[in-house]
Amino acid sequence: MMSGGKGLDLLLCLITVGLAGDPYVFYDWTVSYITASPLGVKQQTCRNGIQQRKNSWQDGVSGTNCPIPAGWNWTYQFQVKDQIGSFFYFPSLGFQRAAGGYGGINVNNREVIPVPFGTPDGDITLFISDWYIKSHKELRKDLERGNGLGAPDGVLFNGLGPYQFDRSLVRDGIPYQIINVEPGKTYRLRVHNVGIATSLNFRIQNHNLVLVETEGSYTVQQNYSNMDIHVGQSYSFLVTMDQDASSDYYIVASSRFVNTSAQTMAPGVAILHYSNSQGPASGPLPDPPNEYDTYFSMNQARSIRWNVSAGAARPNPQGSFRYGDITVTDVYVILNRPPELVDGKLRTTLNGISYIAPSTPLKLAQQFNVPGVFKLDFPNRFMNRHAKVDTSIINGTFKGFMEIIFQNNDTSVHSYHLDGYAFFVVG
Ligand SMILES: *[C@@H]1O[C@H](CO)[C@@H](O)[C@H](O)[C@H]1NC(C)=O
Ligand SMILES: *[C@@H]1O[C@H](CO)[C@@H](O)[C@H](O)[C@H]1NC(C)=O
Ligand SMILES: *[C@@H]1O[C@H](CO)[C@@H](O)[C@H](O)[C@H]1NC(C)=O
Ligand SMILES: *[C@@H]1O[C@H](CO)[C@@H](O)[C@H](O)[C@H]1NC(C)=O
Ligand SMILES: *[C@@H]1O[C@H](CO)[C@@H](O)[C@H](O)[C@H]1NC(C)=O
Ligand SMILES: *[C@@H]1O[C@H](CO)[C@@H](O)[C@H](O)[C@H]1NC(C)=O
Repeated sequence: MMSGGKGLDLLLCLITVGLAGDPYVFYDWTVSYITASPLGVKQQTCRNGIQQRKNSWQDGVSGTNCPIPAGWNWTYQFQVKDQIGSFFYFPSLGFQRAAGGYGGINVNNREVIPVPFGTPDGDITLFISDWYIKSHKELRKDLERGNGLGAPDGVLFNGLGPYQFDRSLVRDGIPYQIINVEPGKTYRLRVHNVGIATSLNFRIQNHNLVLVETEGSYTVQQNYSNMDIHVGQSYSFLVTMDQDASSDYYIVASSRFVNTSAQTMAPGVAILHYSNSQGPASGPLPDPPNEYDTYFSMNQARSIRWNVSAGAARPNPQGSFRYGDITVTDVYVILNRPPELVDGKLRTTLNGISYIAPSTPLKLAQQFNVPGVFKLDFPNRFMNRHAKVDTSIINGTFKGFMEIIFQNNDTSVHSYHLDGYAFFVVG
Protein backbone atom coordinates (compact mmCIF):
# COMPACT_ATOMS: atom_id res chain seq x y z
CA MET A 1 0.00 0.00 0.00
CA MET A 2 1.32 3.42 -0.84
CA SER A 3 -0.48 6.53 0.22
CA GLY A 4 -0.06 10.23 -0.06
CA GLY A 5 -1.15 13.05 2.21
CA LYS A 6 -2.00 16.61 1.37
CA GLY A 7 0.44 19.47 1.20
CA LEU A 8 3.85 17.89 1.46
CA ASP A 9 2.73 14.49 0.24
CA LEU A 10 6.33 13.82 -0.69
CA LEU A 11 6.93 12.85 2.92
CA LEU A 12 4.21 10.28 3.01
CA CYS A 13 5.33 7.34 1.00
CA LEU A 14 4.20 4.46 3.16
CA ILE A 15 4.79 0.78 2.52
CA THR A 16 3.17 -2.16 4.19
CA VAL A 17 4.89 -5.52 3.90
CA GLY A 18 3.57 -8.93 4.93
CA LEU A 19 0.88 -10.21 2.61
CA ALA A 20 -0.78 -13.47 3.57
CA GLY A 21 -0.58 -15.06 0.12
CA ASP A 22 2.31 -13.78 -1.97
CA PRO A 23 5.33 -13.42 0.29
CA TYR A 24 7.12 -11.18 -2.22
CA VAL A 25 6.44 -7.51 -2.76
CA PHE A 26 8.05 -5.03 -5.15
CA TYR A 27 8.03 -1.26 -4.77
CA ASP A 28 9.40 1.39 -7.05
CA TRP A 29 10.50 4.75 -5.64
CA THR A 30 11.35 7.90 -7.52
CA VAL A 31 13.48 10.42 -5.66
CA SER A 32 13.59 14.06 -6.66
CA TYR A 33 13.73 17.51 -5.16
CA ILE A 34 10.62 19.66 -5.09
CA THR A 35 9.87 22.97 -3.41
CA ALA A 36 7.74 23.10 -0.30
CA SER A 37 7.25 25.57 2.52
CA PRO A 38 5.99 23.90 5.68
CA LEU A 39 6.70 26.91 7.88
CA GLY A 40 5.88 29.44 5.19
CA VAL A 41 9.48 29.67 3.89
CA LYS A 42 10.25 28.02 0.52
CA GLN A 43 12.78 25.21 0.58
CA GLN A 44 14.09 22.39 -1.52
CA THR A 45 12.79 19.11 -0.20
CA CYS A 46 13.20 15.52 -1.15
CA ARG A 47 10.51 13.36 -2.72
CA ASN A 48 10.31 9.67 -1.81
CA GLY A 49 13.86 8.74 -0.89
CA ILE A 50 14.75 5.19 0.02
CA GLN A 51 17.61 3.50 1.69
CA GLN A 52 17.11 0.28 3.63
CA ARG A 53 19.33 -1.73 5.87
CA LYS A 54 19.89 -5.47 5.79
CA ASN A 55 22.93 -7.51 4.83
CA SER A 56 26.19 -5.65 4.67
CA TRP A 57 26.10 -5.26 0.86
CA GLN A 58 22.74 -3.55 1.12
CA ASP A 59 23.32 -1.82 4.35
CA GLY A 60 22.40 1.62 3.15
CA VAL A 61 25.34 3.45 4.67
CA SER A 62 28.24 4.98 2.86
CA GLY A 63 31.19 2.60 2.65
CA THR A 64 29.14 -0.54 2.29
CA ASN A 65 26.70 0.90 -0.22
CA CYS A 66 27.69 3.37 -2.90
CA PRO A 67 25.45 6.41 -3.19
CA ILE A 68 22.84 6.17 -5.97
CA PRO A 69 23.93 8.66 -8.65
CA ALA A 70 21.29 11.00 -10.07
CA GLY A 71 19.40 9.26 -12.87
CA TRP A 72 20.35 5.75 -11.73
CA ASN A 73 18.37 2.93 -10.17
CA TRP A 74 19.29 0.64 -7.32
CA THR A 75 17.31 -2.43 -6.30
CA TYR A 76 17.36 -3.54 -2.70
CA GLN A 77 16.30 -7.06 -1.88
CA PHE A 78 15.86 -8.04 1.70
CA GLN A 79 13.97 -10.62 3.65
CA VAL A 80 11.53 -9.25 6.16
CA LYS A 81 11.88 -11.54 9.15
CA ASP A 82 10.73 -11.62 12.73
CA GLN A 83 10.83 -7.91 13.49
CA ILE A 84 7.14 -7.22 13.06
CA GLY A 85 6.32 -3.57 13.55
CA SER A 86 7.00 0.01 12.54
CA PHE A 87 10.10 1.28 10.75
CA PHE A 88 11.08 4.11 8.46
CA TYR A 89 13.57 4.55 5.65
CA PHE A 90 15.76 7.53 4.82
CA PRO A 91 18.88 8.44 2.86
CA SER A 92 21.97 8.49 5.05
CA LEU A 93 24.08 10.89 2.99
CA GLY A 94 24.03 14.58 2.24
CA PHE A 95 21.67 15.51 5.06
CA GLN A 96 18.76 14.59 2.79
CA ARG A 97 16.67 13.43 5.71
CA ALA A 98 16.54 17.09 6.75
CA ALA A 99 15.00 17.75 3.32
CA GLY A 100 12.12 15.39 3.98
CA GLY A 101 13.58 12.22 2.49
CA TYR A 102 11.82 9.61 4.60
CA GLY A 103 8.82 7.30 4.72
CA GLY A 104 7.37 4.40 6.68
CA ILE A 105 7.79 0.65 6.37
CA ASN A 106 5.29 -1.41 8.33
CA VAL A 107 6.08 -5.08 8.73
CA ASN A 108 2.94 -7.11 9.44
CA ASN A 109 2.61 -10.50 11.05
CA ARG A 110 1.88 -13.61 9.04
CA GLU A 111 -1.48 -15.06 10.02
CA VAL A 112 0.10 -17.89 12.03
CA ILE A 113 1.77 -15.35 14.32
CA PRO A 114 -0.75 -13.77 16.71
CA VAL A 115 -0.68 -10.10 17.62
CA PRO A 116 -0.90 -9.35 21.37
CA PHE A 117 -3.86 -6.96 20.96
CA GLY A 118 -7.14 -6.85 19.08
CA THR A 119 -7.12 -5.62 15.48
CA PRO A 120 -7.34 -1.82 15.70
CA ASP A 121 -10.10 0.01 13.82
CA GLY A 122 -7.50 2.01 11.93
CA ASP A 123 -3.76 2.37 11.41
CA ILE A 124 -2.27 5.86 11.31
CA THR A 125 1.37 6.76 10.65
CA LEU A 126 2.77 10.03 11.99
CA PHE A 127 6.22 11.37 11.15
CA ILE A 128 7.33 14.03 13.60
CA SER A 129 10.50 16.01 13.05
CA ASP A 130 12.43 19.13 13.85
CA TRP A 131 12.64 21.54 10.92
CA TYR A 132 15.19 24.14 9.96
CA ILE A 133 14.41 27.01 7.64
CA LYS A 134 18.01 26.80 6.43
CA SER A 135 18.27 24.28 3.61
CA HIS A 136 19.79 20.87 4.20
CA LYS A 137 22.79 21.97 2.12
CA GLU A 138 23.41 25.02 4.32
CA LEU A 139 23.00 22.88 7.44
CA ARG A 140 25.59 20.48 6.12
CA LYS A 141 27.99 23.33 5.37
CA ASP A 142 27.53 24.67 8.89
CA LEU A 143 28.50 21.31 10.32
CA GLU A 144 31.47 20.97 8.00
CA ARG A 145 32.70 24.36 9.19
CA GLY A 146 32.53 23.01 12.71
CA ASN A 147 29.49 25.05 13.74
CA GLY A 148 26.56 23.46 15.47
CA LEU A 149 23.12 23.16 13.94
CA GLY A 150 21.60 25.59 16.38
CA ALA A 151 18.02 25.32 17.52
CA PRO A 152 15.43 24.17 14.98
CA ASP A 153 12.81 26.62 13.68
CA GLY A 154 9.82 24.38 14.19
CA VAL A 155 8.40 20.89 14.52
CA LEU A 156 6.46 19.22 11.70
CA PHE A 157 3.76 16.55 11.60
CA ASN A 158 3.90 14.58 8.34
CA GLY A 159 5.75 17.47 6.77
CA LEU A 160 3.14 20.00 7.80
CA GLY A 161 3.50 22.98 10.09
CA PRO A 162 1.58 23.61 13.31
CA TYR A 163 -2.12 24.29 13.69
CA GLN A 164 -2.56 27.94 14.71
CA PHE A 165 -3.19 27.30 18.39
CA ASP A 166 -1.65 30.66 19.28
CA ARG A 167 -1.66 33.58 16.84
CA SER A 168 1.50 35.04 18.33
CA LEU A 169 3.46 31.83 17.72
CA VAL A 170 2.03 30.46 14.46
CA ARG A 171 1.53 32.66 11.43
CA ASP A 172 -1.63 32.58 9.31
CA GLY A 173 -2.27 30.19 6.48
CA ILE A 174 0.06 27.32 7.40
CA PRO A 175 -1.38 23.95 6.29
CA TYR A 176 -1.55 21.47 9.17
CA GLN A 177 -2.27 17.77 9.64
CA ILE A 178 -5.80 16.64 10.52
CA ILE A 179 -6.35 13.07 11.72
CA ASN A 180 -9.98 12.03 11.19
CA VAL A 181 -11.39 9.45 13.61
CA GLU A 182 -14.68 7.89 14.65
CA PRO A 183 -15.91 8.07 18.26
CA GLY A 184 -15.43 4.91 20.31
CA LYS A 185 -12.91 3.38 17.92
CA THR A 186 -9.35 2.36 18.73
CA TYR A 187 -6.52 3.27 16.37
CA ARG A 188 -2.93 2.17 16.16
CA LEU A 189 -0.75 5.27 15.89
CA ARG A 190 2.75 4.61 14.60
CA VAL A 191 4.87 7.59 15.55
CA HIS A 192 8.38 8.08 14.12
CA ASN A 193 10.82 10.82 15.04
CA VAL A 194 12.39 11.39 11.62
CA GLY A 195 14.14 14.60 12.64
CA ILE A 196 17.81 15.50 12.64
CA ALA A 197 18.68 16.37 16.20
CA THR A 198 15.72 17.11 18.43
CA SER A 199 14.06 14.80 20.94
CA LEU A 200 10.29 15.35 20.87
CA ASN A 201 7.61 14.80 23.48
CA PHE A 202 4.46 13.34 21.91
CA ARG A 203 1.01 13.64 23.50
CA ILE A 204 -2.69 13.97 22.67
CA GLN A 205 -5.00 16.24 24.60
CA ASN A 206 -7.28 14.20 26.95
CA HIS A 207 -6.23 10.85 25.44
CA ASN A 208 -4.22 7.93 26.80
CA LEU A 209 -1.44 6.36 24.82
CA VAL A 210 -1.22 2.60 25.32
CA LEU A 211 2.26 1.60 24.21
CA VAL A 212 2.21 -1.74 22.35
CA GLU A 213 5.25 -1.88 20.08
CA THR A 214 8.59 -0.24 19.46
CA GLU A 215 11.14 -0.87 16.68
CA GLY A 216 9.66 -4.21 15.68
CA SER A 217 9.24 -5.63 19.19
CA TYR A 218 6.00 -5.89 21.13
CA THR A 219 6.16 -4.29 24.54
CA VAL A 220 4.39 -5.00 27.78
CA GLN A 221 1.30 -2.80 27.35
CA GLN A 222 1.30 0.29 29.51
CA ASN A 223 -0.53 3.62 29.60
CA TYR A 224 1.36 6.86 29.07
CA SER A 225 0.04 10.40 28.97
CA ASN A 226 3.04 11.45 26.87
CA MET A 227 6.19 9.88 25.45
CA ASP A 228 9.66 11.24 24.78
CA ILE A 229 10.56 10.06 21.29
CA HIS A 230 14.18 10.56 20.42
CA VAL A 231 15.55 10.94 16.89
CA GLY A 232 15.23 7.70 14.93
CA GLN A 233 12.81 6.04 17.33
CA SER A 234 9.48 4.49 16.32
CA TYR A 235 6.59 3.64 18.66
CA SER A 236 3.08 2.19 18.21
CA PHE A 237 0.32 3.32 20.57
CA LEU A 238 -3.27 2.18 20.77
CA VAL A 239 -5.46 5.24 21.25
CA THR A 240 -9.17 4.90 22.00
CA MET A 241 -11.50 7.73 20.99
CA ASP A 242 -13.18 7.81 24.37
CA GLN A 243 -13.80 11.57 24.73
CA ASP A 244 -17.08 13.45 24.27
CA ALA A 245 -16.05 15.27 21.05
CA SER A 246 -17.18 18.60 22.50
CA SER A 247 -14.26 19.87 20.37
CA ASP A 248 -11.31 18.65 18.31
CA TYR A 249 -8.19 17.71 20.26
CA TYR A 250 -4.57 18.79 19.92
CA ILE A 251 -1.88 16.30 19.01
CA VAL A 252 1.44 17.78 20.13
CA ALA A 253 5.12 17.11 19.52
CA SER A 254 7.28 19.57 21.44
CA SER A 255 11.03 19.83 21.56
CA ARG A 256 12.98 18.51 24.54
CA PHE A 257 16.34 19.69 25.84
CA VAL A 258 16.66 22.53 23.34
CA ASN A 259 18.11 25.68 24.84
CA THR A 260 16.79 29.26 24.83
CA SER A 261 14.78 29.56 21.64
CA ALA A 262 12.68 26.56 22.68
CA GLN A 263 10.36 28.97 24.50
CA THR A 264 9.66 31.01 21.39
CA MET A 265 9.56 28.09 18.97
CA ALA A 266 6.11 26.69 18.25
CA PRO A 267 5.70 23.00 18.96
CA GLY A 268 4.32 20.70 16.28
CA VAL A 269 0.51 20.68 16.57
CA ALA A 270 -1.84 18.46 14.55
CA ILE A 271 -5.59 18.04 15.04
CA LEU A 272 -7.49 14.96 16.14
CA HIS A 273 -10.95 15.38 14.62
CA TYR A 274 -13.86 13.14 15.71
CA SER A 275 -16.52 12.74 13.02
CA ASN A 276 -19.06 14.14 15.54
CA SER A 277 -16.81 16.94 16.78
CA GLN A 278 -18.63 20.07 17.90
CA GLY A 279 -15.87 22.59 17.18
CA PRO A 280 -12.20 23.43 16.91
CA ALA A 281 -9.63 22.44 19.51
CA SER A 282 -9.17 25.08 22.18
CA GLY A 283 -7.56 25.86 25.46
CA PRO A 284 -3.91 25.41 26.35
CA LEU A 285 -1.88 22.59 24.82
CA PRO A 286 -1.54 19.56 27.09
CA ASP A 287 1.36 19.98 29.49
CA PRO A 288 4.84 18.79 28.54
CA PRO A 289 6.94 17.00 31.16
CA ASN A 290 9.04 19.18 33.42
CA GLU A 291 11.97 20.28 31.27
CA TYR A 292 14.27 20.46 34.28
CA ASP A 293 13.56 16.92 35.47
CA THR A 294 16.40 15.35 33.53
CA TYR A 295 15.61 11.88 34.85
CA PHE A 296 12.05 11.88 33.52
CA SER A 297 13.12 10.83 30.05
CA MET A 298 15.51 8.15 31.24
CA ASN A 299 13.00 6.75 33.72
CA GLN A 300 10.35 6.66 31.05
CA ALA A 301 12.66 4.76 28.70
CA ARG A 302 13.46 2.34 31.51
CA SER A 303 9.76 1.73 32.14
CA ILE A 304 9.38 0.17 28.67
CA ARG A 305 9.56 -3.61 28.81
CA TRP A 306 9.84 -6.09 25.97
CA ASN A 307 7.10 -8.73 25.90
CA VAL A 308 9.34 -11.66 25.01
CA SER A 309 6.45 -14.11 24.65
CA ALA A 310 4.65 -12.05 21.99
CA GLY A 311 5.36 -12.08 18.25
CA ALA A 312 7.64 -14.41 16.35
CA ALA A 313 10.20 -16.59 18.12
CA ARG A 314 13.52 -14.88 17.70
CA PRO A 315 16.75 -16.84 18.00
CA ASN A 316 19.85 -15.03 19.15
CA PRO A 317 22.77 -14.81 16.69
CA GLN A 318 24.30 -17.96 18.14
CA GLY A 319 21.17 -19.85 17.10
CA SER A 320 19.73 -20.32 20.57
CA PHE A 321 16.35 -19.09 21.77
CA ARG A 322 17.75 -18.58 25.25
CA TYR A 323 18.97 -15.03 25.53
CA GLY A 324 20.39 -15.69 28.97
CA ASP A 325 22.84 -18.16 27.43
CA ILE A 326 24.57 -15.75 25.10
CA THR A 327 28.35 -15.92 25.09
CA VAL A 328 29.56 -12.36 24.75
CA THR A 329 32.65 -12.33 22.52
CA ASP A 330 33.47 -8.63 22.51
CA VAL A 331 32.62 -5.68 24.75
CA TYR A 332 32.99 -2.11 23.50
CA VAL A 333 32.51 0.92 25.68
CA ILE A 334 31.97 3.73 23.19
CA LEU A 335 32.38 7.21 24.60
CA ASN A 336 31.45 10.38 22.77
CA ARG A 337 32.69 13.78 23.88
CA PRO A 338 31.74 17.35 23.04
CA PRO A 339 33.28 18.67 19.80
CA GLU A 340 36.99 19.44 20.11
CA LEU A 341 39.61 20.82 17.73
CA VAL A 342 41.13 17.97 15.73
CA ASP A 343 43.30 18.83 12.69
CA GLY A 344 42.07 22.39 12.72
CA LYS A 345 38.34 21.64 12.81
CA LEU A 346 35.80 21.13 15.55
CA ARG A 347 34.92 17.46 15.48
CA THR A 348 33.14 14.99 17.68
CA THR A 349 34.88 11.72 18.43
CA LEU A 350 34.03 8.19 19.51
CA ASN A 351 36.72 6.78 21.78
CA GLY A 352 38.93 9.67 20.70
CA ILE A 353 38.60 9.00 16.95
CA SER A 354 36.70 11.04 14.39
CA TYR A 355 35.90 8.75 11.45
CA ILE A 356 36.89 9.80 7.98
CA ALA A 357 35.45 8.00 4.96
CA PRO A 358 38.18 6.63 2.64
CA SER A 359 38.00 7.23 -1.11
CA THR A 360 37.81 3.46 -1.68
CA PRO A 361 34.56 2.16 -0.17
CA LEU A 362 35.21 -0.09 2.83
CA LYS A 363 33.33 -3.01 1.40
CA LEU A 364 35.34 -2.98 -1.84
CA ALA A 365 38.62 -2.62 0.04
CA GLN A 366 37.71 -5.69 2.06
CA GLN A 367 36.44 -7.73 -0.89
CA PHE A 368 39.52 -7.05 -3.03
CA ASN A 369 42.04 -6.95 -0.18
CA VAL A 370 43.15 -3.41 -0.92
CA PRO A 371 45.74 -2.60 1.74
CA GLY A 372 45.93 0.64 3.67
CA VAL A 373 42.32 1.76 3.20
CA PHE A 374 41.21 1.13 6.78
CA LYS A 375 42.62 -0.09 10.07
CA LEU A 376 41.00 -2.76 12.23
CA ASP A 377 42.12 -1.02 15.36
CA PHE A 378 39.10 0.72 16.81
CA PRO A 379 39.73 0.66 20.58
CA ASN A 380 37.26 -1.05 22.89
CA ARG A 381 37.30 1.89 25.29
CA PHE A 382 38.32 5.56 25.48
CA MET A 383 42.09 5.92 25.19
CA ASN A 384 43.69 8.79 27.00
CA ARG A 385 45.56 10.19 24.00
CA HIS A 386 45.16 13.03 21.50
CA ALA A 387 41.95 12.87 19.51
CA LYS A 388 42.59 12.01 15.87
CA VAL A 389 40.93 11.63 12.49
CA ASP A 390 41.17 8.07 11.18
CA THR A 391 39.45 5.26 9.26
CA SER A 392 39.42 2.99 12.26
CA ILE A 393 37.10 -0.01 12.19
CA ILE A 394 35.91 -2.46 14.85
CA ASN A 395 37.40 -5.93 14.35
CA GLY A 396 34.30 -8.01 15.04
CA THR A 397 34.29 -11.76 15.59
CA PHE A 398 32.39 -13.79 12.97
CA LYS A 399 29.24 -15.20 14.58
CA GLY A 400 30.23 -13.50 17.79
CA PHE A 401 27.93 -11.54 20.06
CA MET A 402 28.97 -8.03 20.84
CA GLU A 403 27.97 -5.99 23.85
CA ILE A 404 28.16 -2.25 23.27
CA ILE A 405 27.89 0.30 26.04
CA PHE A 406 27.41 3.93 25.03
CA GLN A 407 28.70 6.68 27.27
CA ASN A 408 27.57 10.16 26.38
CA ASN A 409 30.10 12.52 27.87
CA ASP A 410 28.63 15.52 26.05
CA THR A 411 26.12 17.99 27.53
CA SER A 412 23.38 17.28 24.99
CA VAL A 413 21.27 14.30 23.93
CA HIS A 414 22.74 12.04 21.22
CA SER A 415 21.05 9.31 19.22
CA TYR A 416 23.00 6.42 17.77
CA HIS A 417 21.91 4.65 14.62
CA LEU A 418 23.26 1.09 14.60
CA ASP A 419 23.12 -0.32 11.14
CA GLY A 420 22.89 -3.66 9.42
CA TYR A 421 22.27 -5.99 12.33
CA ALA A 422 19.52 -6.58 14.84
CA PHE A 423 20.53 -4.76 18.00
CA PHE A 424 18.69 -5.40 21.24
CA VAL A 425 18.58 -2.82 23.95
CA VAL A 426 19.32 -4.56 27.22
CA GLY A 427 19.68 -1.70 29.63
C1 LIG B 1 15.50 3.19 -13.99
O1 LIG B 1 14.24 2.57 -13.89
C2 LIG B 1 13.25 3.19 -14.70
C3 LIG B 1 11.91 2.55 -14.37
O2 LIG B 1 12.01 1.17 -14.31
C4 LIG B 1 13.64 3.06 -16.16
O3 LIG B 1 12.67 3.70 -16.95
C5 LIG B 1 14.99 3.72 -16.36
O4 LIG B 1 15.42 3.53 -17.69
C6 LIG B 1 16.02 3.15 -15.41
N1 LIG B 1 17.25 3.95 -15.51
C7 LIG B 1 18.47 3.40 -15.58
C8 LIG B 1 19.61 4.37 -15.65
O5 LIG B 1 18.64 2.20 -15.55
C1 LIG C 1 2.71 -10.72 26.24
O1 LIG C 1 2.11 -11.22 25.08
C2 LIG C 1 1.36 -12.40 25.30
C3 LIG C 1 0.99 -12.97 23.93
O2 LIG C 1 0.13 -12.10 23.24
C4 LIG C 1 0.17 -12.06 26.18
O3 LIG C 1 -0.60 -13.23 26.40
C5 LIG C 1 0.70 -11.52 27.50
O4 LIG C 1 -0.38 -11.07 28.28
C6 LIG C 1 1.65 -10.36 27.26
N1 LIG C 1 2.29 -10.02 28.53
C7 LIG C 1 2.29 -8.80 29.02
C8 LIG C 1 2.96 -8.67 30.34
O5 LIG C 1 1.81 -7.84 28.44
C1 LIG D 1 -5.07 2.44 30.50
O1 LIG D 1 -5.95 3.35 31.13
C2 LIG D 1 -7.33 3.10 30.86
C3 LIG D 1 -8.16 4.22 31.40
O2 LIG D 1 -7.58 4.81 32.52
C4 LIG D 1 -7.70 1.74 31.46
O3 LIG D 1 -9.03 1.46 31.18
C5 LIG D 1 -6.82 0.68 30.83
O4 LIG D 1 -7.05 -0.56 31.42
C6 LIG D 1 -5.35 1.03 30.97
N1 LIG D 1 -4.58 0.09 30.16
C7 LIG D 1 -3.44 -0.46 30.57
C8 LIG D 1 -2.75 -1.39 29.61
O5 LIG D 1 -2.93 -0.20 31.66
C1 LIG E 1 22.25 25.79 27.32
O1 LIG E 1 22.11 26.84 28.23
C2 LIG E 1 22.94 26.79 29.37
C3 LIG E 1 22.57 27.88 30.32
O2 LIG E 1 22.20 29.06 29.64
C4 LIG E 1 24.39 26.85 28.90
O3 LIG E 1 25.25 26.73 30.00
C5 LIG E 1 24.67 25.70 27.93
O4 LIG E 1 25.97 25.78 27.41
C6 LIG E 1 23.68 25.71 26.78
N1 LIG E 1 23.85 24.49 26.01
C7 LIG E 1 23.87 24.46 24.69
C8 LIG E 1 24.02 23.12 24.06
O5 LIG E 1 23.76 25.45 24.00
C1 LIG F 1 40.89 -9.40 14.22
O1 LIG F 1 40.47 -10.39 15.15
C2 LIG F 1 40.89 -11.70 14.83
C3 LIG F 1 40.35 -12.62 15.89
O2 LIG F 1 38.98 -12.56 15.92
C4 LIG F 1 42.41 -11.76 14.82
O3 LIG F 1 42.82 -13.05 14.41
C5 LIG F 1 42.95 -10.74 13.85
O4 LIG F 1 44.35 -10.70 13.95
C6 LIG F 1 42.40 -9.37 14.17
N1 LIG F 1 42.87 -8.44 13.16
C7 LIG F 1 43.53 -7.34 13.46
C8 LIG F 1 44.01 -6.53 12.30
O5 LIG F 1 43.75 -7.00 14.61
C1 LIG G 1 33.62 13.04 30.95
O1 LIG G 1 33.05 14.22 31.49
C2 LIG G 1 33.49 14.55 32.78
C3 LIG G 1 32.69 15.74 33.26
O2 LIG G 1 32.73 16.77 32.30
C4 LIG G 1 35.00 14.82 32.78
O3 LIG G 1 35.45 15.11 34.09
C5 LIG G 1 35.71 13.57 32.25
O4 LIG G 1 37.07 13.85 32.10
C6 LIG G 1 35.14 13.18 30.90
N1 LIG G 1 35.75 11.93 30.51
C7 LIG G 1 36.25 11.75 29.31
C8 LIG G 1 36.89 10.43 29.07
O5 LIG G 1 36.20 12.60 28.45
